[in-house]
Amino acid sequence: MLVIYSIFYKFIRRVVIVSTTVIQLIKRVPKHLEDAIKIGDFLLDKVYPFTSSLYRYKAPKLLSQDVYNLKFPSPLTVASFKYHESTIRFWLNLGMGGATLKTITKDVRNGNDIPRIQELKPTSYPSLLNAMGLPGPGVDEFCKEISRWKIWNNQTPIGISIGGHSTNDYCAAIDCILNKLPTHILSKVYIELNISCPNTPEGQNISKKPELLEPILSHLRDLSSIPCSVKVSPDQQNEELQKTADICKKYTNMMINCGNTQYKSCRAVGLNENAISIGGGGLSGASLFDRTLEMVTLFARYELPIIATGGVTSIDRCVKVLEAGATLIGMATQLVADPFMIPKINNALARRNKTSVIDY
Ligand SMILES: Cc1cc2nc3c(=O)[nH]c(=O)nc-3n(C[C@H](O)[C@H](O)[C@H](O)COP(=O)(O)O)c2cc1C
Repeated sequence: MLVIYSIFYKFIRRVVIVSTTVIQLIKRVPKHLEDAIKIGDFLLDKVYPFTSSLYRYKAPKLLSQDVYNLKFPSPLTVASFKYHESTIRFWLNLGMGGATLKTITKDVRNGNDIPRIQELKPTSYPSLLNAMGLPGPGVDEFCKEISRWKIWNNQTPIGISIGGHSTNDYCAAIDCILNKLPTHILSKVYIELNISCPNTPEGQNISKKPELLEPILSHLRDLSSIPCSVKVSPDQQNEELQKTADICKKYTNMMINCGNTQYKSCRAVGLNENAISIGGGGLSGASLFDRTLEMVTLFARYELPIIATGGVTSIDRCVKVLEAGATLIGMATQLVADPFMIPKINNALARRNKTSVIDY
């Protein structure tokens, strides 16, 4: 059944992408993926509530990972890039062990001008170039909205990713989250500090000066022991990564997420230089994997829980990062391309653990 779902999903996705591209050509507006994403979200809103029971795939029990007070049913998690309830529920229903929501900032942000996301020429694995620039409603509105979501009815951990221009921005967003979200939600939440966004002018300030993390983490720990992950960049030098890990080690309940997208100019990935309004953006997908594996290996000796994110596109790659020391895996690009691979990966990981298997 999974094969049929997967073919159907990929077919609908391609039809939506091709039709929105044709409409953009007719309207003589720059080609981009955002219209297709909006249609996809709209279709899922309509279809998901009536069809979710058809594709409910629980992760096999032995895959469960405890990280501090959080219980992830599977090591597979949704990386931070989406803030849309039906989509998050769709992926969790397929067996993802957790999800980090798209980065939120203290104030409302419109993000960069369109075009700001492009699909790269199909290879065997999908790749995207995006310079969204962290559009979002601001943390206050975000807290109100997610408090109404139904995902809190189950125990699956959810990450709230924070971005900002300055340490004060991060601290203000932390204050808002801890004050506005009720305890039953906060007990399932981890905070992720996105210090590695390549698409805003100040998005990587902290990754370049890791010592700026100190006031944020000490502010957070004065208020709460909520688990916190720091998301680093594949563009950082190894010395900067080590300095970041040294700082994280000083605080309780910390994790490292390695990592984010990798900055590339449009030309460097074979796109026209106007394909992204700011001339370049963050590359995601398969080609990030070697650096992700390198970073996991580098962080393994710190004995902090590691989330391996970037180019994890297959069962084989999941196994490699887990064997290198990752506790969890973050996925974005491949998840959009084929979410029906989730139960297959979960099942293969369970087989690898040589115990009971669920055959779908
Ligand atoms: C469209 C898009 C938007 C993203 N937005 C965010 C974000 O808001 N915050 C963040 O930390 N990472 C963001 N990312 C990066 C992903 O979380 C992930 O680190 C990256 O895509 C590498 O994983 P992948 O190769 O599995 O896609 C975004 C990625 C994409 C493709």
